[in-house]
Amino acid sequence: MIAPIIVDEINKQIQREYANAYAYKGVALYFESLNLHGISRFMFQQDKEEQEHADKLIKHLVDRGGNVTLGALPLAATSYDDPLQAALTVKGMEEDTTSHIHELYALAQQQNDYALQVLLHWFIEEQVEELAWSAELAELMGQFSAHPGQLHMLDHHWGKRVK
Ligand SMILES: [Fe+2]
Ligand SMILES: [Fe+2]
Repeated sequence: MIAPIIVDEINKQIQREYANAYAYKGVALYFESLNLHGISRFMFQQDKEEQEHADKLIKHLVDRGGNVTLGALPLAATSYDDPLQAALTVKGMEEDTTSHIHELYALAQQQNDYALQVLLHWFIEEQVEELAWSAELAELMGQFSAHPGQLHMLDHHWGKRVK
């Protein structure tokens, strides 16, 4: 038996993961428009990963007999003032996601939902990685954005992170 409040909150997180996927697609298209193909590829990969996060949560709900709801997605930007603004947007998005995952974990503890707690261990660890690379990218972008040559070098190196 899964508590109705847990079902509601997982559905909200599914919605957020898809919204993040959509936002990453927009960020990827923005970097593509700047011919920063390495960072663009990386962002397209994030788009796919966020969809996989939503899928993990959907499977969890389905396995436990919870009802999945799929709502409308917010608009996603495909242009930004500059690469730094795009990187800061991504960093802020991952910070928000981390808070939401932690809130969901606290709820799972409060409701004695052990199955959800175990699933969320994976998400909590994933967010450690997401915060690390997004902070690093924003930091490097801040240093290099005024120097197009260095930006292309960053792009080249960042593209190597794509699996
Ligand atoms: Fe995610
Ligand atoms: Fe993420």
